[in-house]
Amino acid sequence: MCGIVGYKGKKDACGILIEALKRLEYRGYDSAGIAVWHEGKVEVARKKGKVDELRKVIADGSFTGKMGLAHTRWATHGTPSEHNAHPHKAGDVVVVHNGIIENYIELKERLRKEGHKFLSDTDTEVIPHLIASYLKKGMDFVDAVRSALKELKGSYALGIIRETDKMLIAARKESPLIIGVGAGEYFIASDAPAIINRTKRFIFLEDDDIAIFADGTVRLIDLEGKTVKREIHQVQWSDAMAEKGGFKHFMLKEIFEQPRAISDTLIGRVKEERGEVAFEELKLPDLAKVKKIWMVACGTSYHACMIGKYLFESVLHIPVETDIASEFRYREPILKKDDMLVLVSQSGETADTIAAMKEGKKRGVYTLSICNVLGSTLARDADGVIFTHAGPEIGVASTKAFTTQISVLFLLMLHIGERLGKLNKQDISRYINEIKQIPHKVQSILDMSGQIEEMARRYMVHRDFLYLGRGINYPAVLEGALKLKEISYIHAEAYAAGEMKHGPIALIDENMPVVFVSPHDHTYKKTCSNVEEVISRRGRVLIFTDDPLHEMADRVETFFVLPQTIYALQPILSVVPLQLLAYYIANFLGTDVDQPRNLAKSVTVE
Ligand code: M6R
Repeated sequence: MCGIVGYKGKKDACGILIEALKRLEYRGYDSAGIAVWHEGKVEVARKKGKVDELRKVIADGSFTGKMGLAHTRWATHGTPSEHNAHPHKAGDVVVVHNGIIENYIELKERLRKEGHKFLSDTDTEVIPHLIASYLKKGMDFVDAVRSALKELKGSYALGIIRETDKMLIAARKESPLIIGVGAGEYFIASDAPAIINRTKRFIFLEDDDIAIFADGTVRLIDLEGKTVKREIHQVQWSDAMAEKGGFKHFMLKEIFEQPRAISDTLIGRVKEERGEVAFEELKLPDLAKVKKIWMVACGTSYHACMIGKYLFESVLHIPVETDIASEFRYREPILKKDDMLVLVSQSGETADTIAAMKEGKKRGVYTLSICNVLGSTLARDADGVIFTHAGPEIGVASTKAFTTQISVLFLLMLHIGERLGKLNKQDISRYINEIKQIPHKVQSILDMSGQIEEMARRYMVHRDFLYLGRGINYPAVLEGALKLKEISYIHAEAYAAGEMKHGPIALIDENMPVVFVSPHDHTYKKTCSNVEEVISRRGRVLIFTDDPLHEMADRVETFFVLPQTIYALQPILSVVPLQLLAYYIANFLGTDVDQPRNLAKSVTVE
């Protein structure tokens, strides 16, 4: 994910900013840039690649000054390149930005008509242009920024300077930004590790806060210009704690990032009032001719494909065949010319999934990748690509990538449904309305994480677990079991609940925790019978359900109520407590949660 740092004080800004960027490198990025103010001029340098490359460009010492901004970019709009790297400049306004501006296309068109020229493919570039256009109308710097921010839809953390002003301005909405308070100096950063070696006194900005650094102080206002007050917090974080945002592990941090990751994945794509889902620059084949869709991936991403199958088949009645990528090309799949092949991958570098794409291309079918990493092989080489906007996933166990993959598959299903005339505008608005509530619902589950931690304490002693679910929640329990086994090394198996009687039931005794996902949908009654069967064999049952009045509630050991949603979106909610359960068990057992034994984040060998 992108990183922002800024400095205003009495020291050399350049050295401080480069050091802060280096401290954010662990998060992954594809380009970097810096802007330093000195006596009415701002020097800007940007470079594709590592911060060390940027450092070489500014090594001549021309970047002297006591105020500046810097940025590492993790591309979302526009390829990783120098011209898309931040800072972006318009007139004398210089901006670094994290987040996504949803209405940038409309703003760009309007500003172009006013004579503004754009040099990048980013959403960010509209921000300095918008501020510059207000400055041209005679506003002062702060008012111009406020007016521009009021027009932005989407999310932002911003650092802004201009040549003809000694002020630094920062602002946030739905993207983290903190102020570091030093002795006679201030820092801004998207993440604490960037500046934790400089200060441990932080102001955590809230949505719609604007911070104005001038004359040796900082003043906070809201979008209307009214003063707001925020406390200075003294934190005791070590470097390692700060990297993880105060969480013990990246995995836990990433689980908790899911509400934001899902929102970011929806931003700019869903138009609820228009009943539309749009994917920028995506050119699909003639959908009327597509008779079958193939969804192929590995591991967690394969579970997302399985959910995709339920979505497309239950809502659009389009046949979908799913395949594990390492099997796909060895089994002579019967691909027809007009089929569509969807490859799902967090990293975009999984060797088997790349091989499946090549197989598809060789057979002349349209390939579409769903990836989290811009510039990755699958993103570059497939005929079409849709990005999940989960941000970098550092924990080996995939969490936020999974829920954003499901979100993208859901949006793709709506998009294709509309284009084929299978869903009308009202249907789509209804579905959009449902998915827009998902981030809040995920948050409400995270708010109950204490209950799951207690659950983990109770069950951590067991060496085998069984996970059961039906319908669209069958892949969710597969994912829950995968999470548990990969990070806690506990044996966990998942089955479609109806399969239990065909074998796994033999395993059940008083030492076997059986985790059920059992929502009140068309599979409810059948799953209740399965719960009954486990109880009568003295299995220890845990139920995760959206039905507080579930008929088995009083008969089982552990019962957890999830928020309600439509069938198609249930797995996003049901997997979150399973991720947490796996995490807390592994944490109690003391395993290396973020880098479990024998596993790699990206499997680049077949
Ligand atoms: O990067 P990809 O999504 O292609 O990776 C595929 C699998 O290796 C991955 O999902 C793996 O199963 C997860 N790390 C498990 O948590």
